[in-house]
Order: sequence, then structure tokens, then C-alpha cells
Amino acid sequence: MHFHDCFVRGCDGSVLIAGSDTERSAGPNRNLRGYEVIDAAKAKLEAVCPGVVSCADILALAARDSVVLSGGLSWQVPTGRRDGRVSIGTEAFTLPGPNDTVAVQNKKFSDKGLNTQDLVILAGGHTIGTAACQSFSDRLYSPNGTDPSIDPSFVPFLRQICPQNQPTKRVALDTGSQFRFDTSYFANLKRRHGILRSDQVLWTDASTRPFVIKYLATGLFNQEFAKSMIKMGNIGVKTDADGEIRTKCSAVN
Ligand code: HEM
Repeated sequence: MHFHDCFVRGCDGSVLIAGSDTERSAGPNRNLRGYEVIDAAKAKLEAVCPGVVSCADILALAARDSVVLSGGLSWQVPTGRRDGRVSIGTEAFTLPGPNDTVAVQNKKFSDKGLNTQDLVILAGGHTIGTAACQSFSDRLYSPNGTDPSIDPSFVPFLRQICPQNQPTKRVALDTGSQFRFDTSYFANLKRRHGILRSDQVLWTDASTRPFVIKYLATGLFNQEFAKSMIKMGNIGVKTDADGEIRTKCSAVN
């Protein structure tokens, strides 16, 4: 959620605003989950300390806490973001998508000031969580056959979880370790067990593969993930009168 927030109008909580034409209702955000967790945190904060902590900061802190709760290392999240007052659905289409090539993913990241290492390490966020079958089932059931970049011995497993026409069933993005913040997502890419096309290409593409190898061979994943998250969390931050502290995360004041 923090990623989808930061990439559209900066980290300003714009993804949280409800409405028929807002980012939240747009295709690239349709599968985002956990709005109720952010609303609950906001309600507790407003009860004790009204008007101080922005929804954009709650997203950044919750992202960090999700990592810690999954066994990753903690980091100090810079705070002070203010919430935006604008959210436009069509702008969400600048987000990277599951079928993007490395070139396209790189372009979308560099447009936000993030480099290839940031791309690979932040995609490592897929060490936790799940994807809906509809986000990748074309790799299993294309009229042209199964995507040859998937390990053939992995295909029956995926087909079992995602039978044809079951778009909303969900699959772990890091098979065997979806609740642990660890490097097994990268090990799965190397075994050609990446779930999304956008994941698997990080191994097949010569520009991103060295980073995958680096995180498998060294213990640097946790600390470099934290650095890239801080960098991402600084995208387009609003201060002072550019923003507000929303009372409810789903609506501007
Ligand atoms: C590099 C470009 C990225 C692409 C193309 C991408 C794409 C996706 C897609 C398609 C899903 C599955 C959505 C669904 O079907 O429900 C997903 C899930 C997820 N992504 Fe990414 N993602 C990218 C980067 C990131 C980054 C930078 C982070 C965080 C640092 C991240 C964290 C997650 C998490 C935690 C989930 C699981 C959500 C859940 O369980 O509901 N992703 N991503």
C-alpha cells in the first residue's frame, strides 16, 4: 500500500481516499487489501493525539511494522508527511504492472528517482503476501502454451491452486515462505518459481540478475531493503500548507 501510495502523487495517503474516480477504485489498486488496518490505527491515534499523525505516515510505519512482524529487521521511519487532498483514478496507471518488462519497470522506478538496485530489492517485498490468480494465470493458460520461463515441475502446483476461471483465489508470492521476511523470494526466482512475470524477469534479465545473486550470496537484504524503503518513502512528500492531517484516512477533511 505504501508503494502504491508513493508512486502516485508522492507518499501523501492519496491511495486511501474512497470514491468512484479515485486511485483506490482504479484497476491497479483494485486488489489492495488492509484499508481497515490503516483506519483502525488512525482511529486510535485520533483518540489520543488528534490532528498529529498523517495517513501517509501511518502507511510508512505500517509497512515497516509488517516487515518486523514477519521477522525482518526494523528501521527508523522518517515522519512528517502531510496528506494530499487530491486522488485521481487514471493516475494509478503509472504504477508498475505484473506483465511489465525489466525495461518498463526500470523506467517507472527511475521516473521516481529509484535505481535498478532499488527495483530489485523493493520487489523483494514479495517475500510476503499473496497474488490473486488473475494477476498471473495467463502464464498458465495462454493459447500459446505455458510460459516457458516457469520451471515445468512447478506448473502443476500452480494449476492446482489456480484452476481456470478462478480469478480471485490467491497464491503466495514466495512459495513456502509467505509469512517470513527473508531471501527465499530470490531463491525462488533462481529456481524459476517466480509467480508474477514481473518477478521472474528480474532473474532472466541480465541487468537485474546480479542484484538477485547479491542478495542470495550476502546478508545485505534486510539493511538495503530498509534504505530503499526510506528512499521510496521520501517520494513527493508534502509539507506545511501543501497538505493536511486527515481526520479519516478515506476522505479529505
Ligand atoms: C516492481 C514492481 C511491482 C509490481 C509489478 C508488483 C505487482 C504486484 C502484484 C500484481 C501483486 C498481486 C496483487 C494481487 O493480485 O492481489 C503484488 C502483491 C504485493 N506486492 Fe507488489 N509489485 C511491485 C513492487 C512491490 C513493492 C515495491 C512492494 C513493497 C515494497 C510490493 C509489495 C507487495 C506485497 C506485500 C504484496 C502482497 C499483497 C497481499 O498479500 O495482498 N510490491 N504486487
